[in-house]
Amino acid sequence: MSVTTPPEVLPAAGDPCWCGSGRKYKRCHKPLEGRVIPGVVSPMRTVPEGIVKPSYGDTGTVARWDEPKIKSPEVIERMRYACDMAADILRMAGEFVKPEMTTDDIDAFVHEETVRRGAYPSPLNYHGYPKSVCTSLNEVICHGIPDSTVVNDGDIINLDVTCYVNGVHGDTNATFPVGNIDEESKLLVRVAEECMWKGIEAVVPGQPLSDIGRAIENHAKTHRMGVIRAFIGHGIGEQFHTDIQVLHYYDARNSMIMRPGMTFTIEPMISLGTWQHKMWDDDWTAVTADGKRTAQFEHTVLLTETGVEVLTANGAVSPSAPWKR
Ligand code: MF3
Ligand code: CO
Ligand code: CO
Repeated sequence: MSVTTPPEVLPAAGDPCWCGSGRKYKRCHKPLEGRVIPGVVSPMRTVPEGIVKPSYGDTGTVARWDEPKIKSPEVIERMRYACDMAADILRMAGEFVKPEMTTDDIDAFVHEETVRRGAYPSPLNYHGYPKSVCTSLNEVICHGIPDSTVVNDGDIINLDVTCYVNGVHGDTNATFPVGNIDEESKLLVRVAEECMWKGIEAVVPGQPLSDIGRAIENHAKTHRMGVIRAFIGHGIGEQFHTDIQVLHYYDARNSMIMRPGMTFTIEPMISLGTWQHKMWDDDWTAVTADGKRTAQFEHTVLLTETGVEVLTANGAVSPSAPWKR
């Protein structure tokens, strides 16, 4: 007979697994203990009449066009507004997170706060993504889908908020502790945020984008942490993702020259172990291949004549940031 729920007293590593598979516990259910597993996803939320949707809002099909890499002052003004809003909602969502709530509760909060401000939550129906925010717990690298999963004391959770308002997107994320977290997780979260700032410091007009990845990778290496490779920063503006690619590790081929007026995100994902990832069957949720924890921070930045302006810095995610306006 096979059972599906673990007993109160677990077997020793080399003993037969409690599930009845006949395999040793360490080769069967032990590796899965404490891992994040998919929960139940609630029905898609709707946005009120009058909120202007992006191309994919109704269909899930993302229109793509050739958007200027150098933004006009008028587009930049609109982006400041969308970015401020995303930063503000991210900060509030981080304060809202408490042990015992579900990731779906966080989605409801972000959705409400976004539409209340007259904006559309960019993730909703983006290539069919079913929710209004990404909630990535522990070993989930990114794009975790809010569902019935309960967040517990000791977890770390990344919340990735993007607002679409006045025809442009603003994109930012941060990793928050849930209750009290262990020292290793604290260090991971700190280093991930430092990696993002190292990347931002490397934004210099006239230099190649690869400078950003080099700065991030070097910092992660000093702590023997991994830089996730499969997900990258991106150009942003009237489209959620444009064709500027920002690698978070060094690759000489990432050679596009940074120019004043460009807007893109820097969003390194840093892991306690491997840089390799696995995808869940939902085709969204990315987890570390070794199950170790990972943390991420993201800002949308604008290149100026002399350097960089962090458009999503208003929410005080990083109070120490010299770029905070
Ligand atoms: N906000 C994410 C990023 O930083 C993208 C999320 S796409 C979604 O690029 F569909 F998963 F929402
Ligand atoms: Co992004
Ligand atoms: Co994002």
